[in-house]
Amino acid sequence: MKERVLTFLKSFNIDDFQKSLRDWFKAEKRDLPWRKDKDPYKVWVSEIMLQQTRVDTVIPYFHRFIEKYPTIQALAEADEQELLKVWEGLGYYSRVKNLQAAVKEVDEKYGGVVPVEKEKFSQLKGVGPYTTGAVLSIAYDQPIPAVDGNVMRVLSRVFEIEDDIAKARTRKLFEQITEAIISHDDPSSFNQGLMELGALICKPTSPACLLCPVRDHCRAFQHGTETNFPVKTKQKKGKTVEFIAALLMDEKGQVFIQKRPDEGLLASLWEFPNIPLSGKHKNMVTFFEKTWMEHHSGKVEILQPLTVINHVFSHLTWKIHAFTGEITGDIQETNTFKLVSIDELSQYPLPVPYQKVWQAYIE
Ligand code: ADE
Repeated sequence: MKERVLTFLKSFNIDDFQKSLRDWFKAEKRDLPWRKDKDPYKVWVSEIMLQQTRVDTVIPYFHRFIEKYPTIQALAEADEQELLKVWEGLGYYSRVKNLQAAVKEVDEKYGGVVPVEKEKFSQLKGVGPYTTGAVLSIAYDQPIPAVDGNVMRVLSRVFEIEDDIAKARTRKLFEQITEAIISHDDPSSFNQGLMELGALICKPTSPACLLCPVRDHCRAFQHGTETNFPVKTKQKKGKTVEFIAALLMDEKGQVFIQKRPDEGLLASLWEFPNIPLSGKHKNMVTFFEKTWMEHHSGKVEILQPLTVINHVFSHLTWKIHAFTGEITGDIQETNTFKLVSIDELSQYPLPVPYQKVWQAYIE
């Protein structure tokens, strides 16, 4: 692998590339809330939020999160349900659970100070090679690569790298290349410059090469091949899973919700009761009522169809056939089954597809 890196770097002017990238970043960087200071905790929070999520979406979440949990100690002590509520809508909820577990460790083991050492920081929960490089370079000026999809796109064009970026080992190659070209004087601007270039100029489908500060270094630009890169095998489309779900109200206007298991997709969030749609049952509505009554003390009756919600996750799609219904009789509430008023409902973390069901009901 090392030899391959050297072949890419042949006749590549590292100093000039670094300078062009840094000068452009300093002049053009977006004014983003996590760039106001170099607080490693805030940088860390922002980098976790930015995984799989666009900058525009993250900004309001970041403000709310830092307002509620301004320090490592505050986050370490946070109530998990409140934390999930603040994260509601960002998706990939294990990110915030891991983040809390990690800051607890920082609080207990390192006196609340984010460790500057790569060996320590990278051992924390939810902290992979990308987060390690991003946080330690931005907050502590450590020359460590921070290679995400944006950075791979930029570098695959600069060096015309044909390796499939969907493969894990390709990331290693990009990390080795970045290690060889990263600025030791200003690794923070270097890494952020690559990210910013990917976001603003070197875009997936129509790169703005004429505005690019490093186009003189870019082999794809020289050859007019920029849209051939990066090479990426298509992800298989996930399967669709269908559910019947019901928004069940009692005579006081309270809604029935249940808590999802503590592991797996959307762990520990709340939802309206649902069952997978199955060809085995002639009448799914009757089957739903029967199943529900086997588990609960009251009586349920489905009233009418409410909406159909399609929600795409990274690996699968949910199709929810939602109904309204009513509950009568005494309901035994537990830690995971609750009847809540409409005001109370807004305090529970509810996944976006169920938010959409609720939205359809109140509209
Ligand atoms: N994407 C990932 N990290 C980022 C950052 N620090 N700034 C802007 N976009 C990013």
